[in-house]
Amino acid sequence: MFEPTSNRSETGAQPEAGSGPRHVAIIMDGNGRWAQSRGRPRLFGHHAGAKRVREIVEACPDLGVEYLTIFAFSTENWKRTQTEVAGLMSLFRRYITSQARDLKDNGVRVRFIGDRVKLEKSLVRMMDDLEALTEDNTRVNLTVAINYGGRDEVARATKRLAQDVAAGRLDPESIDEETLPKYLDTCLLPDPDLVIRTSGEARISNFLLWQSAYAEYEFIETLWPDFSPDVFGEVVAGYAGRDRRFGGARNA
Ligand code: FPP
Repeated sequence: MFEPTSNRSETGAQPEAGSGPRHVAIIMDGNGRWAQSRGRPRLFGHHAGAKRVREIVEACPDLGVEYLTIFAFSTENWKRTQTEVAGLMSLFRRYITSQARDLKDNGVRVRFIGDRVKLEKSLVRMMDDLEALTEDNTRVNLTVAINYGGRDEVARATKRLAQDVAAGRLDPESIDEETLPKYLDTCLLPDPDLVIRTSGEARISNFLLWQSAYAEYEFIETLWPDFSPDVFGEVVAGYAGRDRRFGGARNA
C-alpha cells in the first residue's frame, strides 16, 4: 500500500558518498527581516520569498535534486498577527492560482504536507486540485509544508497507527522503525539528505523531525528572499564534499 520511505535506492544501497543530495528540505527564514530592513511590512518579504520559491524549484533538475520540500507555514505560525496569518493564507492561494499551469507544464509534481483540518476549506480544495493536476509529473517533486509541525505529524501518525492496532489491522509485535514512517505525511517521500535553513538561525523548528535523523544541515546567513539559484548551487555543491556515515565508521 505504501511506497518505500527511506533514502535508500531501489537496490537498497545508501546514497553514494560525494554525490549530490536527492532530497533537499528548506526552512525559508528571514522574510520579515528582509522586508523590515527595507522599511516595508513583513508581508512584502513573504511576497519576495514566494518569488524565490519558483526559481529554486526550477534550479533543482540541473543540480540533481529530485525532491524539494519547503516549510511555508508551521503549526506555531498561527501565533503571528492576524494580518500576517491572513496575508500568508492569501499568498498561498494566489501562488497556487498563478503558478498551477506553469508547474504542470514544467513537470513539477506538487504535494502538501501538514494538518489540513485547521485550514480554510477553499484553500484545501485548491491544494487538492493542484496535487491532482500535477500527479503525473516526474521532473521535480515539490512538497510544501503548510500548517506542518514535526511533533504534530508524529502525533497524528501515532493516532492512526493506534487505530489500526485497535481494529486488528496491525500487529503491535510487528512494529519497528519502518512502521511509523508509513503513517507520516511524508510516506511517499525519501528522507531528506540535506536540510537548509536561511537567515542565520541554527534551529530546526519542528521541521521533519523523524525524517531528518541522518540529514546533513546547512545554516546559512542569507535571508530567504536573497536565496538565489547561485547560492542554492553553492550549498548543494558543499554537500557533495561531506562524508555521510549513517552511524558507521569512516572508510580507511
Ligand atoms: C519565515 O520568515 C517565513 C515564513 C513563516 C513564511 C514562508 C513563506 C514564504 C517563503 C512565501 C510563500 C511560500 C509559498 C510556497 C508560496 P520570517 O517571517 O519568520 O522571517 P523573520 O525571521 O525575518 O521574521
